[in-house]
Amino acid sequence: MAESMTGLKRSHRCTEVSNQLIGEKVTVMGWVQKRRNLGSLIFVDLRDRSGLLQIIFDEETIGTEGFEKAEKLRNEYVIAVVGTVEQRSGAVNQNLKTGDIEIKAEELRILSESETPPIPIDANLKVKDEVRLKYRYLDLRRPNIQRNLIIRSKVAMLVRNFLAEEGFLEIETPMLTKSTPEGARDYLVPSRVHPGSFYALPQSPQLFKQLLMCSGYDRYFQIVKCFRDEDLRADRQPEFTQIDMELSFVDVDDVIDVNERLLAKIFKEILDVDVALPIPRMTWQEAMDRFGSDKPDMRFGMELTDVTEVVKDCDFVVFKGAIEAGGTVRGINATGQGNLGRKKIDVLVKFAKDFGAKGLAYIQLKSDGSVKSSFAKFMKEEEMTALIDAMGGKPGDLLLFAADKNAVVYDVLGNLRLEIAKKYDMIPEGEFKFLWVTEFPLLEWNEDENRYTAMHHPFTMPMEEDLQYIDSDPGRVRAKAYDIVLNGTELGGGSVRIFQNDIQEKMFECLGFTKEEAHERFGFLLEAFKYGVPPHAGLAYGLDRLIMWMTGEDSIRDVIAFPKVKDASCLMTEAPAPVDDIQLNELQIQLDLEDK
Ligand code: AMO
Ligand code: AMP
Repeated sequence: MAESMTGLKRSHRCTEVSNQLIGEKVTVMGWVQKRRNLGSLIFVDLRDRSGLLQIIFDEETIGTEGFEKAEKLRNEYVIAVVGTVEQRSGAVNQNLKTGDIEIKAEELRILSESETPPIPIDANLKVKDEVRLKYRYLDLRRPNIQRNLIIRSKVAMLVRNFLAEEGFLEIETPMLTKSTPEGARDYLVPSRVHPGSFYALPQSPQLFKQLLMCSGYDRYFQIVKCFRDEDLRADRQPEFTQIDMELSFVDVDDVIDVNERLLAKIFKEILDVDVALPIPRMTWQEAMDRFGSDKPDMRFGMELTDVTEVVKDCDFVVFKGAIEAGGTVRGINATGQGNLGRKKIDVLVKFAKDFGAKGLAYIQLKSDGSVKSSFAKFMKEEEMTALIDAMGGKPGDLLLFAADKNAVVYDVLGNLRLEIAKKYDMIPEGEFKFLWVTEFPLLEWNEDENRYTAMHHPFTMPMEEDLQYIDSDPGRVRAKAYDIVLNGTELGGGSVRIFQNDIQEKMFECLGFTKEEAHERFGFLLEAFKYGVPPHAGLAYGLDRLIMWMTGEDSIRDVIAFPKVKDASCLMTEAPAPVDDIQLNELQIQLDLEDK
């Protein structure tokens, strides 16, 4: 028995009603959060996206018919109420914005009824993720998710305004396009008009934004969906949103400058957090040496120490062997963890092995002054002392060492550092530690493909002073690439681009593309570069990741209205789904599925 709202007009959202309006008549509309009957009085908590407001129905004011209607109200009914704002008759609820008032109802209309919802609309109730996502439209009613999406909307708006003021133009780029160069697998869309041909959904607008620079648009931005068919994690989705930008006639410092001011503005205006500018910068090499990571979490210490020199003459074959094979020995000092039991240390050893370590050598400096070590028997006493000194070890500390190729040592200790900090509560809450990581290697060796691949993407400019090594020692060439890191997450990344055709062709050569292959994939860009191209550079943020940090959520799904789950499906719409034979025939696609 849905009623119409004809003749009524909402005057306020729930929490826009305040004690300033006492005595005034208001019209509010929303969902029933809760109904309580107290004999001759009925209380209803009315909810909309702004929050809760208490409505009080008494028979004298609303009449018998209205009162009977109020008795029928159930959770999630959508209602309209006309009434007068009054001082709350019962105790003031300090937890509510409207906790000191209530609306004495004079008219009630039930606009829509609701079945009992399969999940409660409550911020604090724990419900299985699968159920939440199946009924996402209900899950989205929960105030914590609404808060996240409201913050997200505010950030997007602020970004638009800020960049517009800085002279950026918002320009859309195609979704149906050719494969772009970010290195993940593409999502493909078959063409009906060109049977056997496929569009790729963009992994980023990279090539288009560079072309816009060629066309003289000077400063471009877009808040844009990107698609990557890769393994999902807590901070990855197959479709996600970038704040994407590109600037002409600029170098690294210009991009960093505009983006620091943007970040500072976002955090100040939305969270009232001051980001101290300039944001510190660190080269990739320093980040790896000190933190074993190209996205170091700067909220705590436990830095890596290179002890190769200290142990190079000892008889411990693990250390010696690694050094002789061209590797290093490095350690971290988990201060205060020297009294961990054997089992807990074994867990850390296992963790290290999961990241490719052959083992994890340790020295426990117990608080009582005794020392326990997995390799003391291979070391002379003075060698042990020198090692402990080099690590700054004190009673109560736990020293952990990895010996291997550099890449393995970094990975193992970098991850161990994070694991120990999380496990043993060494990360201060509520801090936002930004960092620019710069001077990334241009190329990275891909063991599987037995060739170099671009660390960022193939359009990234090498550092001028390293260009001399591009033939003799390509792995040594650093790039004009930068990442913005927040609390150990890569928030965004970008680079100065190559704008000279000869360097671009050289880059393709390093990546093992023949001239023909390069032209087949990126010919339009190389062609465009023939007709006057400005020096340019850019950057893209993961908007979802930014919002995760701003809202304190651990899962990227909690900041996206309709997210996908780990196997890239949507539990609500049940996408992806088989399609009709008619559709396949039109596309001239035949399926050849293996029986499962
Ligand atoms: P990049 O590949 O580093 O750079 O992507 C930029 C940022 O996008 C976010 N991101 C993701 N977020 C959620 N789910 C994903 N699957 C995902 N993949 C990436 C990250 C990342 O830092 N065109 C270049 C930018 C440029 O050079 O201007 C690019 O796309 O936060
Ligand atoms: P083992 O002699 O093999 O028992 O090793 C002695 C100690 O060295 C053990 O604690 C191993 O976990 C550790 N270890 C073995 N290989 C490595 C390595 N590559 N790096 C660091 N520690 C290692």
